[in-house]
Amino acid sequence: MKYFFIPGRNYDLSKAEIVSVFSTFISSNYNFQFSDRYILVDSKESPEVITRVFNRLGGFLSCGLIYDDVDLIIDEISELQRVTFGVSIYTDLPKNYSKDSIKTFLEQLKDLLKSKEVSSRYLMPNGLTLDSAQVLHNHLIDKGFELVIFDFKGKKTFGRTLGVQNIEFFSKVEFDKPYTNKEMGVLPAKLATIMINLLGLKDGETIWDPFCGSGTVPLVALSNGLNVLASDIDVKAVEGTQKNIEWLAAGNQLNTVNMNVFQFDVLNPDGKIVSTLRKTAFHGLASEPYMGPPQFKRMSVTKATKLLSGVESLYSNLFLLLENLKLYRFKAVIVVPSYKTFKGWMTISLNSIVSKKWKVESNLKEGDLHWKRSDSIIKRNIFVLSKKN
Ligand SMILES: C[S@@+](CC[C@H](N)C(=O)[O-])C[C@H]1O[C@@H](n2cnc3c(N)ncnc32)[C@H](O)[C@@H]1O
Repeated sequence: MKYFFIPGRNYDLSKAEIVSVFSTFISSNYNFQFSDRYILVDSKESPEVITRVFNRLGGFLSCGLIYDDVDLIIDEISELQRVTFGVSIYTDLPKNYSKDSIKTFLEQLKDLLKSKEVSSRYLMPNGLTLDSAQVLHNHLIDKGFELVIFDFKGKKTFGRTLGVQNIEFFSKVEFDKPYTNKEMGVLPAKLATIMINLLGLKDGETIWDPFCGSGTVPLVALSNGLNVLASDIDVKAVEGTQKNIEWLAAGNQLNTVNMNVFQFDVLNPDGKIVSTLRKTAFHGLASEPYMGPPQFKRMSVTKATKLLSGVESLYSNLFLLLENLKLYRFKAVIVVPSYKTFKGWMTISLNSIVSKKWKVESNLKEGDLHWKRSDSIIKRNIFVLSKKN
């Protein structure tokens, strides 16, 4: 079977994430085809298994099954009596798809369904694609269908959506949690999910977030079946993370809660905690350090230099500590900021924070992975580092 995956805004990050998740959770053979706007995967796995894998992802909008013809989708639907449906079009020729032509096409599909005794209503896309909320709220996946048309280089391919991103979960973690500290900066929940997935850990393994803040990484990790160590220098962040985890667990979003949240200063590590960490089995680290208060305009070089030097010392101390913890097959996924200054972008080099005992994952080129909103003045570079044994 052939499946499609529609990546979000940061394509390279999504691509790295899906490669990691498939290699962790799919043991049968599969084959990826990458193109700019979507990713195709040949796999023997069932739609249920592929949907479960998709539900783990943070960097994707939807996934579905590829069909040779629209008629095959309509044949499947004709078992139902009443459906809501819609269409999303991905194309290099958007001018070929006017609002009127989309409406005519949807009317034709409606007539076709009627001829098969299926009564239907359709949703018009905003532009060329339906958004996740439209698909979810109108039950297009379970009680109808979203037809997806890929029209590139004059060739059309059709698909039916199997899953769309869990926008409710991401927005709950980002906006509804009881404790938050906007001054410190909050990691987007989708990015936390991608970072965790880049670690390639199996359910039940443990990750550490040493700059947990309000706990985005712990909340997402626990939801994905991992165990969590979370720490922060700030006692308010420690208590807040604890509270947020209890809140998520109380809302039945967590099956098991296996976590330990503690106060820890990476720059002045407490000897007792370090010796406990030495005896604790953990398998990966995902974290974003303090990168300064939210920024709304370009920075002076002096300010960026100061913030970057803070990040540099947090990471260099952290990695030195990790080197002394006898970790085996250990990976760290970290955010390194770039700041837009009056003299261009500024960042720090990886050499200044990690020793030669760490290597950047070979399938990812240094600097390729980043998370950025188009107009933002902070760019988050994502690095996957593995400890050489
Ligand atoms: C950007 S925030 C983390 C945000 C978090 N990922 C979230 O989504 O809420 C960085 C955190 O690093 C913590 N921090 C700063 N210096 C630290 C240090 N020396 N040791 C440990 N944590 C520190 C801050 O208290 C802050 O909570």
